[in-house]
Amino acid sequence: MRTHYIAAIPADGIGQEVISAGLEVLSALAEQDGNFNFEVEHFDWGTDRYKSSGRLMPEDGAELLKKFDAIFFGAVGAPDVPDHITLWGLRLAICQPLDQYANVRPTRILPGITSPLRNATAENLDWIIVRENSEGEYAGNGGRAHRGLPIEVATETSVFTREGVTRIMRFAFELARSRPRKQLTVVTKSNAQRHGMVMWDEIANEVAAEFADVSWDKMLVDAMTVRMTLDPGSLDTIVATNLHADIISDLAAALAGSIGIGPTANLNPERQFPSMFEPIHGSAFDITGKGIANPIGTFWTACMMLDHLGEAKASARLMRAIEQVTANRQFHTPDLGGHAQTAEVTAAVIDRIRASST
Ligand code: NAI
Ligand code: MG
Repeated sequence: MRTHYIAAIPADGIGQEVISAGLEVLSALAEQDGNFNFEVEHFDWGTDRYKSSGRLMPEDGAELLKKFDAIFFGAVGAPDVPDHITLWGLRLAICQPLDQYANVRPTRILPGITSPLRNATAENLDWIIVRENSEGEYAGNGGRAHRGLPIEVATETSVFTREGVTRIMRFAFELARSRPRKQLTVVTKSNAQRHGMVMWDEIANEVAAEFADVSWDKMLVDAMTVRMTLDPGSLDTIVATNLHADIISDLAAALAGSIGIGPTANLNPERQFPSMFEPIHGSAFDITGKGIANPIGTFWTACMMLDHLGEAKASARLMRAIEQVTANRQFHTPDLGGHAQTAEVTAAVIDRIRASST
């Protein structure tokens, strides 16, 4: 019996609802498989903890997570606390010290789901976005001076290191190579940003030389939004900076039908530290507590976590169950235009897991 030690951090809003659904599904999978199980430790980190104790997680929080095989994360953010406090106090406070520098975001149109793009199909919209997750525009470099005075100033400095850019480019080229089309698009803005982004382009060029079997091209981020919308089939694997990929991956999720479906993995590819798996959506205050959060993004996230843990068979089993459920409109939550509740979608996925053979 293989045991996987999981840290569950549901945090805020619908994060609680989708992570509890995700854990139910994972436990059904382990039961059906019979060769592995999970030991899950629950952490109450999040905004409530911040309100009562002044910290979203303990000071040594990232250290406490190091003993786990993976982290299963919901979402952080509350309407009455500024977002930069919650994001930096929890999500980035985990990703950065655990050096989860590769954020991977697959996007495709699942069966039964309609893209808002007239001509997008499961065949021509099948992307995987790699987001640089450790530096760039979200390095946290900058400051404020002359606070409250008319001459107040704020700086936000992007940080690009040769090592940071090289490792994300290598990761992206390798991922592109592992996919049938062997094709990578490097997103940039080197026309306007002539230091960091020019080095980004130069390093892409250098790393590309190690991957002669991967075809690649370069797109300015503004033009990229047009290409994603008008010619989705021309893209496959995509690599972009922290900020650019943040934006284009929300666009990607919307084009694939709903932000409630998108999964993501924050990987430390060398496995020196645990990786973290989360749906791409946030805590969704507007639907919190209503029981209608779409759990599919979290289930697909669980597939990525299973793959990372070496449970490829269980991951494929879960993906099949997800696709059987999305194919049936009866199980569409309101974000997909349906009436289903989180609990009904979860039960339907578990039913299909139990009904599956090998
Ligand atoms: P959001 O993703 O929470 O919500 C955007 C819209 O999508 C809302 O209308 C929401 O109802 C809908 N939505 C999101 N997930 C859904 C799901 N699973 N099922 C059905 N509908 C869903 O983004 P928003 O509103 O910009 O941010 C809300 C809070 O979440 C903020 O505090 C923000 O900072 C935080 N946030 C946290 C993230 C994280 O922890 N990784 C990521 C994005 C936002
Ligand atoms: Mg985002």
